Amino acid sequence: MSLREVRAFRTAMIKRASMRKLQAGLIGGMVFSTCLAGTAPADAERFDARRTYENLCASCHGMKGQGGTAPSMLGRDALKHPTADGMFGIIKDGNDLGGMPGYGEALSDPEIRALVIYIRELRERHARAEAPTPEPDSAGVYESQHHRFRSEVVADGLATPWSMAVLPDGRFLVCEKRGTLRLVNTDGSVHAEPITGTPAVFTQNQGGLLEVALHPGYETPGNAWVYLGFSDIKRRGGRDVSMTKIVRGRIDFARHRWVDEEMIYEAEARHYMPTRHHFGVRLVFDDGYVYFPIGDRGRQDMAQDLTVPNGKFHRVHDDGRIPTDNPFVGHPQHPDALPTIWTYGNRNPQGAAQHPATGALWSTEHGPRGGDELNVIEPGVNYGWPVITYGMNYTGTPITEKTAAPGMAQPVHHWTPSIAVCGIEFVTGDAFPNWENDLLVTGLAKQTVRRLRLDGNTLIEEEEIIRDRGRVRDVHLGPRGEVYVVFNQPDQIVRLTPVD
Ligand code: HEC
Repeated sequence: MSLREVRAFRTAMIKRASMRKLQAGLIGGMVFSTCLAGTAPADAERFDARRTYENLCASCHGMKGQGGTAPSMLGRDALKHPTADGMFGIIKDGNDLGGMPGYGEALSDPEIRALVIYIRELRERHARAEAPTPEPDSAGVYESQHHRFRSEVVADGLATPWSMAVLPDGRFLVCEKRGTLRLVNTDGSVHAEPITGTPAVFTQNQGGLLEVALHPGYETPGNAWVYLGFSDIKRRGGRDVSMTKIVRGRIDFARHRWVDEEMIYEAEARHYMPTRHHFGVRLVFDDGYVYFPIGDRGRQDMAQDLTVPNGKFHRVHDDGRIPTDNPFVGHPQHPDALPTIWTYGNRNPQGAAQHPATGALWSTEHGPRGGDELNVIEPGVNYGWPVITYGMNYTGTPITEKTAAPGMAQPVHHWTPSIAVCGIEFVTGDAFPNWENDLLVTGLAKQTVRRLRLDGNTLIEEEEIIRDRGRVRDVHLGPRGEVYVVFNQPDQIVRLTPVD
């Protein structure tokens, strides 16, 4: 295809997209749509990575990247330029001698970035089809690189469990998205009634009761604090608005009741939003502080705005007081920054855990389409969303070509395509000594539990230990280091124990 043909294709695509927008506008009764008003959105909004690949690239590379006149792009060792940046460079500049045309004049940088993500999706689809699913043997034992383990369902019949906490006596608390806190007995039976008196919760779309965690001093006399993280609901202008909120309270087990509630974090009313997604929320305790993320609430640019709470990690004292040494308290350049902010530029973190050896806070955050991230969370740092990302929009349109920028942290690792990365936990304790300090990572969309081995901040091993048993929401350790995995669809809690 010549450059002129490429350009013609691109113009045709843009025209088609404009027509679609126009039609949508007319159908919606909005005759004076943005197109008609002459403020057409940037070309990038009309780009479609799959269609562009199929029109410009598939003739040589094959519809699925399997190759044709050009070499296959599938398989672990197939690529000469396996990194995202390497791929970007060859698509932009081409390779005259090798017969690969350069697309730098025909496509914008963000569009090329979207193609890189699309090729990575093709590669991942192929790799998953090739890779064997981890399956237990006839005795129910899974083999993995460093441990054999057994898995058993320890609680069933829950309604979209999001998180759990293991009580010292072996029972556990499970929070369900619909706003209910359940007590599960040691024999796995779920107490018939939810615990009464827990806060009212906004449950539409991604909202819900999203986190339950015990204070690390739970067993100290007079403590017994249980923390809940959820989407709080208010009314404004005749409609529901919501924002992430944290409370603590105690459980009166005799009366099966939530009591002694205290507010730990609540955003100002003006920060409550009508959007119904990206609430973040996992709680990590350290040294009298509690750390938690709030997602960008679907307003990506707000992640860079220090005067709003969304798209940030926050730190407060475990009784809710605001620490005076948080990074933006009294910051000369940011006098209006919210004092609870610990980091910013976070999209929607839904995994957080403290490294057992270094004490560092680690987090996973959902990318858009591609660009799920693993980060080390350090005070005052900008994680870059949405200015930099390895992902693109769900529709296949680009967000940006930038994956790095000065003053913005790089992830330790990114999953492109996304696994819909969710809860994480570091392994410690006696049960799985050969996994000591490894990070367990869950993925909803890819229905996966992975074990990551890290050397400092470098990923050196990634192994899928469970796959295709349901959407995996969260992972926790029991008192002896046994692993609990929270599944959605089927809604179950599964325990992994080592087998010699
Ligand atoms: C005319 C045929 C042709 C077309 C059209 C074409 N390519 Fe290529 N491409 C090649 C060839 C041949 C190579 C191998 C070059 C080499 O060996 O150095 C290649 C290499 C590549 C590589 C590097 C693979 C590696 O080993 O790292 C990428 C990425 C790539 N192409 C992407 C694309 C994309 C994206 C498009 C569409 C926008 C595209 N190509 C269109 C022929 C083509």
